[in-house]
Amino acid sequence: AKNRPLPVDIRARKGGVPLVSLTAYTTPMAQVMDAHCDFVLVGDSVGMVLHGLPSTLGVTMEMMILHGQAVERGLERAMMVIDMPFGSYEEGPAQAFRNAARLMAETGAGAVKLEGGQAMADTIGFLVARGIPVMAHIGLTPQSVNTLGGYRVQGRDAEGEAVMADARAVAEAGAFAVVLEKVPQGLADRITADIPIPTIGIGASAGCDGQILVVDDMLGLFTAFKAKFVKRYATLGEDAEAAVAAYAEEVRARDFPAPEHVFADTTPVKAPNT
Ligand code: KIV
Ligand code: NA
Repeated sequence: AKNRPLPVDIRARKGGVPLVSLTAYTTPMAQVMDAHCDFVLVGDSVGMVLHGLPSTLGVTMEMMILHGQAVERGLERAMMVIDMPFGSYEEGPAQAFRNAARLMAETGAGAVKLEGGQAMADTIGFLVARGIPVMAHIGLTPQSVNTLGGYRVQGRDAEGEAVMADARAVAEAGAFAVVLEKVPQGLADRITADIPIPTIGIGASAGCDGQILVVDDMLGLFTAFKAKFVKRYATLGEDAEAAVAAYAEEVRARDFPAPEHVFADTTPVKAPNT
């Protein structure tokens, strides 16, 4: 826990070398990305990626806390941000503070993230004024899939001004950074130029102040579907299936375990000391 960036450090990176981030849900994956990421997000995508839920709506505070604790154990250098799950903050600032404080106290997260722009500005201001750094998330906000009517690009044509207004509202409310999900490239660039806090793109633009991806997507571990904005840097899902198939074949052929995997019946004689 030495020299880990704080939300103010992330904010100060506006316009500089792009911020690098990924989601994480487990200790070993957090360890893999710790040295390479500025911050790691315990995303509510955990519900779809690790728990097989059809959307993020069924994710609970308890799930977020359990995964947040696991990720925090794997981090020494990167900051940890944790998502507020659906239903844990939308009622108003007091509910949001109660649940954000619990997420931070029980996991050690340095900040929370919540979805929404103008509608969440008062809540963001309330949390920040009381010691809780907030990362905002606008554009496509998956917790609102039922009112948005699907996971389509947000902010094309005339809709762009509403996304711009959301960006300005969360920045003015005191968010230290904002995720822009699935917004057109030109709009993402205009927002990035317009607001004083870092924009973190996912399906947005290489011109954003940082990027984030869902780790299981970029590793090819989550293959139920692939969004256009996902780049697969590995094929771990395919590799895992090939490994399981090889294991099954060797077990059925009695080729596994091999001699080097089993124990002798006689205790080996130890070599004498020097
Ligand atoms: O839950 C999540 O993974 C996210 C990122 C995609 C930004 O919110
Ligand atoms: Na999320």
